[in-house]
Amino acid sequence: MLFSQRKKQKVTLLYLFVLCSTQHSAQPETRQVKGIVGKSLSFLVTVLKSGNLLYGDLGNVAQVHPGKQSNTNLVKRFKDCLHWNNVTGFFTLTDLQIDDSGVYTVENVEEDEEKMTHTFQLTVYYVLSKPQVTVHENISCRVVCSVENGRDVTLSWYRGEEILNQTSSPDLNITLSLPLKVDEQNRDSYRCEAANPVSKETADVPHSCIESDPSKVTGLVGLAICLKKRRNRHSHAGGAKRYTRTGSA
Ligand SMILES: *[C@@H]1O[C@H](CO)[C@@H](O)[C@H](O)[C@H]1NC(C)=O
Ligand SMILES: *[C@@H]1O[C@H](CO)[C@@H](O)[C@H](O)[C@H]1NC(C)=O
Ligand SMILES: *[C@@H]1O[C@H](CO)[C@@H](O)[C@H](O)[C@H]1NC(C)=O
Ligand SMILES: *[C@@H]1O[C@H](CO)[C@@H](O)[C@H](O)[C@H]1NC(C)=O
Repeated sequence: MLFSQRKKQKVTLLYLFVLCSTQHSAQPETRQVKGIVGKSLSFLVTVLKSGNLLYGDLGNVAQVHPGKQSNTNLVKRFKDCLHWNNVTGFFTLTDLQIDDSGVYTVENVEEDEEKMTHTFQLTVYYVLSKPQVTVHENISCRVVCSVENGRDVTLSWYRGEEILNQTSSPDLNITLSLPLKVDEQNRDSYRCEAANPVSKETADVPHSCIESDPSKVTGLVGLAICLKKRRNRHSHAGGAKRYTRTGSA
């Protein structure tokens, strides 16, 4: 009882603190927005009388004039892919590209009132492709997961909900890859996941440990052969527990 009371107070205090701190930040905040290559993105600020859209160093890239007139072709770079909707009042970028990322400012002027500005930091991402899991060495059940790198991409191996390993790289021009030694007995519990802020793709582990005659190996047969092989190799060590440990190392 006492505990939950205290907890409640704490939560209330925290809430007040958050309220105060948001009220104190007087300067216009920059909203982070994410876009996807090829898709559209609207800046959710209503401009109905008059206003502008500015982009980075280019300055004005679109204008709205009184009487629902607009010019969204001020700059060649955004020709035909920047629109203003005279009903919603939103500026929209269509067919987004990676290099449309940057800082956009919407200026909204109502009647003779002062100009209101809203700033957006847009980051455009590719939707990830599915990662590939390939068998690297089929005797020791080693597999490698790989995916093309891009902005904020991470590649991870999971076993159930547990994360086993993860990689990422600032070099966008490479293929990320992450090896893993799997415990064939629990092959289905592994998954490789590629993720960025707009997408997530997973891949399963293919049959990794096979006998020398691959045509004979299917499903459970392959599994049994693999286990037998490994048992023979570690005949002094007892049972599946050992495999579990080596598998997650
Ligand atoms: C709004 O835009 C639509 C489509 O461009 C146009 O047909 C319509 O006349 C416009 N409405 C006003 C009030 O300007
Ligand atoms: C994670 O992957 C890296 C790169 O391949 C490897 O050096 C490291 O040993 C791995 N860590 C684990 C816990 O498997
Ligand atoms: C990325 O790799 C391609 C082909 O290997 C090369 O032509 C290009 O210049 C590289 N780009 C960067 C930024 O390193
Ligand atoms: C698996 O092992 C067999 C026998 O050593 C070999 O012929 C085959 O190429 C291997 N396959 C892969 C995908 O490593």
